[in-house]
Amino acid sequence: MNASPTDQWSLAGEVSNFISSKSPLRPRLALVLGSGLGAFADDLDERVVLPYSSIPHFPVSSAVGHAGNLVIGRIGDVAIAAMQGRVHYYEGHAMSHVTFPIRVFCRLGVKGVLLTNAAGGIGPQLQPGCLVVLSDHINLQGTNALIGANEDRFGPRFPDMTEAYSKEWRKLALAEGKRQGINIYEGVYAAVPGPSYETPAEIRFLRTIGADVVGMSTVAEVVVARHCGMKVLAISVVTNMAAGILDKPIIHEEVLEIGQRIRGHFSTLLKSLLPKLDASLR
Ligand code: HPA
Repeated sequence: MNASPTDQWSLAGEVSNFISSKSPLRPRLALVLGSGLGAFADDLDERVVLPYSSIPHFPVSSAVGHAGNLVIGRIGDVAIAAMQGRVHYYEGHAMSHVTFPIRVFCRLGVKGVLLTNAAGGIGPQLQPGCLVVLSDHINLQGTNALIGANEDRFGPRFPDMTEAYSKEWRKLALAEGKRQGINIYEGVYAAVPGPSYETPAEIRFLRTIGADVVGMSTVAEVVVARHCGMKVLAISVVTNMAAGILDKPIIHEEVLEIGQRIRGHFSTLLKSLLPKLDASLR
């Protein structure tokens, strides 16, 4: 899909109406679950599961470990719109396609989004299985999701990114993680296009420019969410040490396996954190 911004406004509106016709819930909070992290949405109450392929104009993922459902449901009395899996730039989708679900959330009335992803750990204190609350990002994907004519109804031509990741939400996430005894840090995410993992020299470069974790997603969605004025929190699950740190190759199946392994405490964190995030949107 390479829709013009005006088309995006009306297409996202059309999809938002479609979703509203399937569930009476009206979420203000959205959740994007990355590689191997989708299981959390299976536990939502009063849930309606919409496979991406059943939603008009929705991008469909081909990546292994991505279930490809939009789940509308509740945790307690908090309504959530949760994506199980996302599409990636490396699959060949235009960035406008990758970020289209965020536009749909915007038209649905969503005011804040929690994005999660699997990432390689660069910082010396990180180890597989730990969580990193993103404080900032470095976009090395070679493009920007907002390139093209601006749709003013979504947001301004030159959106500010000074506090892309809400300070208030970062504080809440870190406090909740620590309270639960989870290995949780704060750090900077470098987004690369992929799909090949980085070389050791690229990781040395990323460390030098201030990155703590590296991955192939999230940043375009953050830019689009901020463009629509949404509050943003993002959490990386460190699934592996970045290339060259350990004397072994990075294997995608192992990346997914770590996601599965931390599933329990990741779900516990989300369950207690999401109602707090929702409360701050009121
Ligand atoms: N690099 C890029 N993306 C990733 C990695 C990595 O090491 N691990 C999980 N996603």
